[in-house]
Amino acid sequence: MRQDHAAWRHLAAKWRIRGDTVYLNHGSFGLPPIDVQEALHRWRHRLDEQPVDFFVRQLPELLHSARGRLAKFLNTSADNLIFQENATEAMNVVARSIELESGDEILLTNHEYGAVERVWDRECRRSRAVLRVAELPGFSTAPPSREQITESIVSQFSDRTRLLVVSHITSATAWIMPIKDLVEAASKRGILICIDGPHSPAQIPLNLDETGCDFYTASLHKWLSAPLGSGFLYAHPRVAERIRPNRLSWGVLPPRTPTAWRDEFEWMGTRDPSAFLTVPTAIEMMESVGLDAFRERTHSLACFAQQQIATVTGRPPMTSPTNFGSMVTCLLPQGDSDTLQATLWNDHGIEVPVWEFCGERLIRVSCHLYTQEEHIRRLTEALRQEL
Ligand SMILES: Cc1ncc(COP(=O)(O)O)c(C=O)c1O
Repeated sequence: MRQDHAAWRHLAAKWRIRGDTVYLNHGSFGLPPIDVQEALHRWRHRLDEQPVDFFVRQLPELLHSARGRLAKFLNTSADNLIFQENATEAMNVVARSIELESGDEILLTNHEYGAVERVWDRECRRSRAVLRVAELPGFSTAPPSREQITESIVSQFSDRTRLLVVSHITSATAWIMPIKDLVEAASKRGILICIDGPHSPAQIPLNLDETGCDFYTASLHKWLSAPLGSGFLYAHPRVAERIRPNRLSWGVLPPRTPTAWRDEFEWMGTRDPSAFLTVPTAIEMMESVGLDAFRERTHSLACFAQQQIATVTGRPPMTSPTNFGSMVTCLLPQGDSDTLQATLWNDHGIEVPVWEFCGERLIRVSCHLYTQEEHIRRLTEALRQEL
């Protein structure tokens, strides 16, 4: 690797990771650095000291300011965003807000996250709409091109397609999807597009206004390393007024009344907003390291993991380096996934997901600021022993 590891090693001290663990699964559950954990506790303490003053007098302005900071990070206006607990909650809001008629089609790909597919399956059953799934090209012998990926989705558009739901970065395969081309193709056909993006904030540059999508859903506990329970829903102004909360409460506490779409989401019953208020601290932490430097460092670690794993498996890459960021998925020889994942944890202390997908056994390696080359070497050595 080109980079100077010693220069990065001190950043690992920002995290408190259990000593028995090599953590290579930030892609499933990100863990917050110490600064973020402390900021979260401070907010919680401030709330617990005087809840009435906090909720009634302070919270509206605090949330407004935190949302503004997130909007700046995502290159959009705070008017287009609401905080949500996670991407799943946001996706459920979109599903309940789109009015479908019998025979309308929702298009997903076969690389979408399983829970997202369940959300749309239920919504389609409820409205007698049709859930269609576009099969992305195979990856067992060589990575597909971006054009092939786009074509495999666009070729499934029909006159009844109302909405395309697609990951920005896929979960199992860690592919960065050709979002620009997909948004262009969908808008030409008058098809709405909802991007499922929990892996994007921080991992790749994100400019929501330029993306041109209708809806964008994300969790912030992953690559931004914000606390669990922080995420967002973005809605373009042309569709925002369609958005309805799944859970109705005051919207905003009386004597205020909701006026804009996002007001319905400020007060959804009494709940702890500390995770939302901590998001600016996570942004500041990542910006203090430098997002370009973070991306370059973690991408080069992911490339290193891809090369090292291939030396053990002899299998070809299923993604080219231009098509993944800080997280890479690699082909393994056939075998039982659960057993291998359990062995890597139980016998080697390595937390890394292994799964069956499209008839292949895959391993996904996530690299963050606390990841060291040494961790990848340990994984490679463990695979050499176990495969
Ligand atoms: C692509 C994708 N979408 C949605 C989700 C759901 O995220 P959350 O559980 O934070 O709501 C995940 C979680 O890993 C994911 O990978």
